[in-house]
Amino acid sequence: MTNATDQHHLGSTTHWWETAVVYQVYVRSFADANGDGIGDLAGITSRLPYLADLGVDALWLTPCFPSPQHDHGYDVADYFDIEPAYGDLAIFDTMVSRAREHGIRILMDVVPNHCSWDHEWFKAALAAAPGSPERERFYFRDGRGADGSEPPNNWQAVFGGPAWHRVVDADGTPGQWYLQTFTPQQPDWNWGCADVVDYFDRMITFWFDRGVDGFRVDAVAVLGKAPGLPDAPPVPDDVRPTDRALRNPHTHFRPEGHDVWRRWRKLVDGYSAEHPGREVFTIAEAYTPRQPEVLLQFQNHEEFHQVFAFDFMLAPWNVHDLRESIDATVRALSPEGLVPAWTLNNHDAQRAVTRYGRADAHDPASWTGNNLVYTDAPIDLDLGARRARAIAMILLALPGSAYLYQGEELGLPEVLDIPAEARQDPIFFRTNGAEIGRDGCRVPLPWTTAEDGAHGFSPIGSAAPWMPQPSAWGQYAADAQDGVDGSMLELYRRAISVRRRHGDLRGGALRWIAVEHPTLLAFERGEITVLLNVGSDPVELSGIVDGTTRVVVASDPETSSASVLPPDTAIWLARTDPT
Ligand code: GLC
Ligand code: CA
Repeated sequence: MTNATDQHHLGSTTHWWETAVVYQVYVRSFADANGDGIGDLAGITSRLPYLADLGVDALWLTPCFPSPQHDHGYDVADYFDIEPAYGDLAIFDTMVSRAREHGIRILMDVVPNHCSWDHEWFKAALAAAPGSPERERFYFRDGRGADGSEPPNNWQAVFGGPAWHRVVDADGTPGQWYLQTFTPQQPDWNWGCADVVDYFDRMITFWFDRGVDGFRVDAVAVLGKAPGLPDAPPVPDDVRPTDRALRNPHTHFRPEGHDVWRRWRKLVDGYSAEHPGREVFTIAEAYTPRQPEVLLQFQNHEEFHQVFAFDFMLAPWNVHDLRESIDATVRALSPEGLVPAWTLNNHDAQRAVTRYGRADAHDPASWTGNNLVYTDAPIDLDLGARRARAIAMILLALPGSAYLYQGEELGLPEVLDIPAEARQDPIFFRTNGAEIGRDGCRVPLPWTTAEDGAHGFSPIGSAAPWMPQPSAWGQYAADAQDGVDGSMLELYRRAISVRRRHGDLRGGALRWIAVEHPTLLAFERGEITVLLNVGSDPVELSGIVDGTTRVVVASDPETSSASVLPPDTAIWLARTDPT
């Protein structure tokens, strides 16, 4: 292999999470053990052998704390317990220890920006008077205008509508307003209040003591608020509802908030130091459209261990942007000895099969940086699935950790035609249907081709699942793909197992191969050469790879030689046996 350029080295790869494959479990939709149509912890426990076969190192569970589920658990009523519909602490403990027997660690999801309006402290705040210590834990303010009927400022909520909600006092008269960055059911915590700081310190330690090995931290970019809560600059009327709030400089990427992350880092690293054999960590969610260097505001040696590298997930299907999304991320992080966390899917984003199947998938204009964007371009699901297979092999060959979202290993598409009456995402309701929201990537998983029990999501004869499955769901079922050559599931299993056995694919350097070809992305990972053709014509590989290489994994099951790379295909090549 010649012409290697732009060598990137990772920092030390001594921590398990730096190279892990982590599988995100959307608890409601993964597996239902007790037949009420809602996924639960016993369901996860029963499917641990499947997850072990897949080869994942850890599970990230979406919030499974008691919650009225207005935002499916991202509205937490009690940070120290388990949602009764999902189980209880004893079932949680069993799940953690069973997972450990399978070599799988458990990560939880912590939501620090807001809680639920059912949280005891919020209820106490509503019952208490303006100016009371109970109200100090949140952002209560008097309204503007003579009778206080105008919100305290002009901020917009991320999920549509104003970012303030007015309370009704005990005597039935309208009272103060409180800040809610997402929905009225999710009041923002005031991190200037010592009670709040202390509460989360205790929460983190509580779950570490139960065997949890890390936290995904929700919505870190909105936690800081500008002092005095000034009005935001006006936003043009044609900006979409969920984009409006993101334009507010007084609530996004603020310097305030970072004290919290620095405090947590000391707490988390201190925990590892005091518990030999444990290595706990945090990974934060912050969307940094086309500016991967902004990751460093959160991912650094004093704050989060990792931040999702969303640029790669959102990049359009062309060599320039894909390469730039990878390169800029590695370029920002690696000089600091920091390791990227790559991902292609999550519970907020349109599923990859659908995204890459869109007719505008290659177009940089489709790269808005907002995970919620759904363009109207026609969708070819076969093409999307072919590309999703190929990009998964890039994901799993990048230096750092890889985060999978349940169902991507089955090749699930986004379900776009959920009837309005079945929709549940607050985005749909709060934008009055202008945005369909995220329900389509949260449909309960199909485990069996047979329809009984919602394709095996629930036991046979159970209640209907909380979200309906489309009629063709059985074709994606795990049992239809298990052991079937060329299935999406077997591709993921194979690629993860090669990655597991081959250190070059996890740590080490990424070396771009200088090729002058408009549709070929090419890099080396030690002894492995990784090639992706994003074009619709085959690429001749003679002159690019030498004849002694062999195909280790190919996203296209028909590709067994390294002479021609078909359209929308990725391959891993090795000169020596990588196993
Ligand atoms: C994050 C979560 C999303 C949730 C929001 C509010 O973006 O990933 O699902 O709705 O925060 O907590
Ligand atoms: Ca259940």
